[in-house]
Amino acid sequence: MIIAIDGPAASGKGTLAKRVAQHFGLPVLDTGLLYRAVARDLAARGFRLDDPWAGAALARSLDPATLDDPHLRGAKAGDAASVAAKIPQVRSALLQFQRAFANQDPGAVLDGRDIGTVICPNAHVKMFVTASPEVRARRRHAEVAARGEPISYEETLADILVRDTRDAGRGAAPMVRAVDAHLLDTSEMDIEAVFQAAVGLIMRKISQ
Ligand code: CDP
Repeated sequence: MIIAIDGPAASGKGTLAKRVAQHFGLPVLDTGLLYRAVARDLAARGFRLDDPWAGAALARSLDPATLDDPHLRGAKAGDAASVAAKIPQVRSALLQFQRAFANQDPGAVLDGRDIGTVICPNAHVKMFVTASPEVRARRRHAEVAARGEPISYEETLADILVRDTRDAGRGAAPMVRAVDAHLLDTSEMDIEAVFQAAVGLIMRKISQ
């Protein structure tokens, strides 16, 4: 069973993906980390974030063991990731890894921007998780403040808006809800309610 969870920045899709994966005993891949890691590796080697040749080469040689790097979690890493993620060569270099992850037995949960549209168009369950930019900024700000990162609510909101515009406006695999994805607007829901809604959708699909 492949479960695709897409949505804009800080929509809670990562938290949801992890909980759903744990509940159903499936492996989970936060695909945003792949783009964050490519941007990190480009910057570390002195390349521009939009260098297609270096981006593709570094994406192909990406070591999945480096994805738990805490430096990948911050707002700067997210912004850099969205610049590198615009490059079609980077996206195609990461495609096979994501598809192979999705197609393992007995299935997988992947979260990102293009899982339901490009990476796994045949996913069994697709969700598009969103919330108002202000709600997303409040949640993300609380999360980063708890980690001790010195970033304000206003900066967090600006980062989210810039990235959403870039991610939705790019030519290659833009962020868009797949026509067959269930929309989960979590503006007025806590994580428990979102999790229960997602489990309900998946159980209905399993029993069909
Ligand atoms: O956690 P958050 O929603 O803030 O970001 P993320 O999922 O870690 O993604 C960081 C950036 O990577 C996004 O802004 C996108 O530009 C890019 N990304 C993408 O293009 N495609 C994906 N499947 C996942 C992330």
